Amino acid sequence: MARKIVAGNWKMNLNRDEAFALVSEITGMLKDEEIRDLKVILFPSFIHLGAIVQLCNGDSRIHVGAQNCNDHAAGAYTGEIAASMIQSYGANHVLIGHSERRSYFNESGDKLSQKINMAIQYSLTPVFCIGELLEERNSAIHFKIIEQQLTNEIFHLSPDDFKKCIIAYEPVWAIGTGLTASPEQAQEMHAFIRATISTKYSKEIAEQTSILYGGSCNDQNAKQIFALPDVDGGLIGGASLKSRSFVNIIKSLP
Ligand code: 13P
Repeated sequence: MARKIVAGNWKMNLNRDEAFALVSEITGMLKDEEIRDLKVILFPSFIHLGAIVQLCNGDSRIHVGAQNCNDHAAGAYTGEIAASMIQSYGANHVLIGHSERRSYFNESGDKLSQKINMAIQYSLTPVFCIGELLEERNSAIHFKIIEQQLTNEIFHLSPDDFKKCIIAYEPVWAIGTGLTASPEQAQEMHAFIRATISTKYSKEIAEQTSILYGGSCNDQNAKQIFALPDVDGGLIGGASLKSRSFVNIIKSLP
């Protein structure tokens, strides 16, 4: 069985005091919750990373990750952040391939593959994001697009390295739009992703891979989405910026 996970991608939101307040509210609310095998990942901006790792240190269920890393190990890349730096601050996850990085920062498949390699090399768990555009779904090529993203960008990994990764399916048309994939659309795509992993690696690896849903997930719809057999939790944007809604989403895990 895959691990159930709720992750919050804060994107480019929250200044210092807002970020610290949100973390202390979340840790406070979760303190009294006897949530068993819970795994929560917070993805703040780079600048807050070290401080938030410290703030979350008391709760082993809460992990911290970066929203990006560079595809090189080190060097003359002004303004960029290396995987080794993220690791050195005690963060242990990194988002790779988010659609906003793909579209606004022109991140190509080759670059994403390199970023995944960097993350693995520095013991960061990649949360690898895939998803189709609305035109691609409307042209009924969405399965092909997802298969290509997996095949070209992450399937170069050995089985042992692939097992370290988390996949997030985020249909681009559902991100920040208030439009959520229907339960049928989410389940069929998650099942397809799992079957594709099974064909490439093995049934056992496919069953153990956490596949998260992202795209306008909130505390009203999370329970229904998380109940789907191939959905192992969520990658939450807007609704992760408010402690009450984020904790309610966490409590929606089956
Ligand atoms: P929203 O939840 O705001 O739609 O964002 C989803 C997302 O992009 C998470 O990475």
